[in-house]
Amino acid sequence: MSTSIESVMQETRVFPPSAAFVEQANVSGMAAYEAMCRAAEQDYEGYWAKLARENIVWHKPFSAVLDESNAPFFQWFADGELNVSYNCLDRHLATQADKTALIFEADDAKVTRVTYRELHARVCQFANALRSRNIKKGDRVVIYMPMSIEVIVAMQACARIGAIHSVVFGGFSSKSLNERIEDATACAVITADAQMRGGKVMPLKPVVDEALAMGGCDSVHSIIVYRRAGSEIFWNAKLDLWWHDLIAGQDTSCEPEWVNSEHPLFILYTSGSTGKPKGVQHSSGGYLLGAMVSMKWVFDYKPSDIFWCTADVGWVTGHSYVCYGPLAMGATQVVFEGIPTFPDAGRFWKMIQSHKVTTFYTAPTAIRSLIKLGGELPKQYDLSSLRLLGTVGEPINPEAWMWYYTVVGQSRCPIVDTWWQTETGCHMIAPLPGVVATKPGSCTLPLPGIMTAIVNEAGEAVPREQGGFLVITRPFPSQIRTIWGDPERYRKSYFPEDMRGAYLAGDSAQCDKDGYFWIMGRIDDVLKVSGHRLGTMEIESTLAANPLVAEAAVVGKPHEIKGEAIVAFVVLKGARPHDAAAVKQVAENLRAWVGEKIGPIAKPDEIRFGDNLPKTRSGKIMRRLLRTIARGDEITQDVSTLENPAILEQLKEVVR
Ligand code: PRX
Repeated sequence: MSTSIESVMQETRVFPPSAAFVEQANVSGMAAYEAMCRAAEQDYEGYWAKLARENIVWHKPFSAVLDESNAPFFQWFADGELNVSYNCLDRHLATQADKTALIFEADDAKVTRVTYRELHARVCQFANALRSRNIKKGDRVVIYMPMSIEVIVAMQACARIGAIHSVVFGGFSSKSLNERIEDATACAVITADAQMRGGKVMPLKPVVDEALAMGGCDSVHSIIVYRRAGSEIFWNAKLDLWWHDLIAGQDTSCEPEWVNSEHPLFILYTSGSTGKPKGVQHSSGGYLLGAMVSMKWVFDYKPSDIFWCTADVGWVTGHSYVCYGPLAMGATQVVFEGIPTFPDAGRFWKMIQSHKVTTFYTAPTAIRSLIKLGGELPKQYDLSSLRLLGTVGEPINPEAWMWYYTVVGQSRCPIVDTWWQTETGCHMIAPLPGVVATKPGSCTLPLPGIMTAIVNEAGEAVPREQGGFLVITRPFPSQIRTIWGDPERYRKSYFPEDMRGAYLAGDSAQCDKDGYFWIMGRIDDVLKVSGHRLGTMEIESTLAANPLVAEAAVVGKPHEIKGEAIVAFVVLKGARPHDAAAVKQVAENLRAWVGEKIGPIAKPDEIRFGDNLPKTRSGKIMRRLLRTIARGDEITQDVSTLENPAILEQLKEVVR
C-alpha cells in the first residue's frame, strides 16, 4: 500500500437533477434518501431483510438475516431458498409474458427480439439439455461465448439447475481459459464456433481446443458449441456437442433447483496483486438483491424503460446489469454483439435512436474514444428517448463527463457515475439520480445501507478533503463470499488486520466538503486499461516466462483514451538491443507473447529495455520510480537507497 495519498481534485461544477426528473424518480429528493440511510443505521438487518422480502420471490422464506459468526465469511438470508433464474423469468410469466426481454442486435445489425415467455422456454430447454449431460447443482460450467441471446440462456440455465457458471471474456487467450477451467475444475465448457466483431470472424472453439490441449482439464466431459459464424472447426466426437443437437427434443419447461441463499451463483475471475487471477465467488440471494435494488435506485428503473448496458457478460457489469438485474426487474434491454466503432463511430447513437433507449450505461473509455472519432456524430441522431446515462469501471475525467452530459444527454439526463467492483456485485457509491446533484468526476454518495469510509493505514477515519483507503465498514448482501478454493487469500486481500474488520476495496479516495466520494486510483498493483482490470504481476510473470526475458516490471501511465496504458521495463537474458529496429522487433515479439498468453487487452503499450531494474539494496524493485520514469516526469523521489542509480538514465531512454 502506498503511504501518503494526496488529492489534486479541483472540480467545482454541480448539476442538480431537473424538477421533472426528481418528481418521477423511484427515490425522490434528499429527504427520502436520508430516511433510507437512517433506517439502515437504526436497524441494519431489518432494513436489508425488508428489501429481500419485497424484491425476491423466496421458495422458502428466510428467518436468519446476517450471520457474522464466522467473519469475514458472512452469510445472508442463509436458511432461505430461492432460484435466481425463477426470479428472472418465471415470476414475470403471469404478468408480462409477452413483454420483450431482449432486443438483440448482431454485429451486422440484424435485430432479434425475445419475449419473457420465449426466453423462459429457451432457458428451460437448455437447462434440461445440461441436465441430460448429468450437469447438476454445484458443478462448475465455464462459458466462453460471444455477446448473444445464447450466452444469457446459458448463464440463466446454469442458475436454473444450480450449476455455478464461470464466464470467461471472449478476448482471453487459451492459456487464461485453461487456468480458469483448471482452477474451477469445470465439468463443461459452453462456447461458440466463433464470434463476430466489427465484421471480422474471431475464433472461439479453436481457443477452447487449445486450452484443453494444454492439460489439467480432465474434469471437462462436455463441450457445447453454439453455431454462430458457420466456421469450419475441429470436432472431437468424445467431448464436443452442438448446442442445437443437444436442445433438440428437450422440454421447454424445467423445474428449477431450489438452492439456499448462500449457494454460489457464479465465480468470476479477476486480477489482483499476485500473478494468479482470483475466482470471486458470489452468492444467490444476496447478490440478486444487490442487482435488483441498484436497478431501482441508481437506474431509476421503470417498466417502460429500454435499458442498455454495453458491457460484455465476461465482466461483472455484464453479469449484474445484463444477465441478472434487468431480467429480475422484468426490463426490456438491448444486447449488442458488436463494437462501438463498426461500421462507424455512430453505432451506439444509431442504436439508441432505433431502439428508443432510455437508459444507457457504458465505460469512460468508450466515451473518450467516441469523442475522438466523432465528437459531433451524436448530433446526427435522435437521442430524445434517453432519460438517464451511466458510467462504470474507471474514473471519468470531467471533460468526457461534460461531453456525455451535453452532447449525448443534451443537458437533460442525469449521469450516474457508479463505483463498484467485481467483488461488490453491484453499485456501492453512485448518485441516486432523483436525489443527488452530480459533480463531474465524482461517484458522489453511497447507496442507502452501504456503509463506506475513508481511512488511514491504521484503519482510522480521515477528515474530509484528505485522501485515504476506501473501505466498507459493514458486510452487505451482494459482496464476495470467498475466493474460489483460496479462503485465506480472500481474508488477506479484503480483510487485512489493520482495517479492523472493514472490507478493503483496494482503491484510494477522498471525500470533499459535501461528503462526495472521489476515487483516486488503486492502492495495489492493479491497472485499469480501457476499464479492464489487469494485474501488473500477471503481465510481469508472463513476460518473465518468455525464454528471452530475465526480469520484467510493469507499471501504468496515464493514457488519454484508455485511462491507463501498460509500460513494461524488461531485462533480457542476452544483450540489450540498441538500434531502433532491433528494439522494435523484440518489443513486438514480447507484445505478441503477452497477447497469446493472457489476451490482446494485456499487451504492453510500451516496452523499455535495461541492463537491470532499479532496486533497493534489499532487492525490491522500486516501482514508484518506474512509474515516474514511464510518465516522463522529473524524478523527485529519494534514490539514495537505490542499489544501481546509473540504471535510471538508461530506462528513461525511449527508442522509437
Ligand atoms: O478502481 C476501481 C475501478 O474499477 C475497480 C473495479 O474493477 P472491476 O472489478 O473490473 O469492476 C469494474 C466494474 C464494476 C475499482 O476498484 N472503478 C470502478 N468503477 C469506478 C472505478 N473507478 C472510478 N470510478 C468508478 N465509477
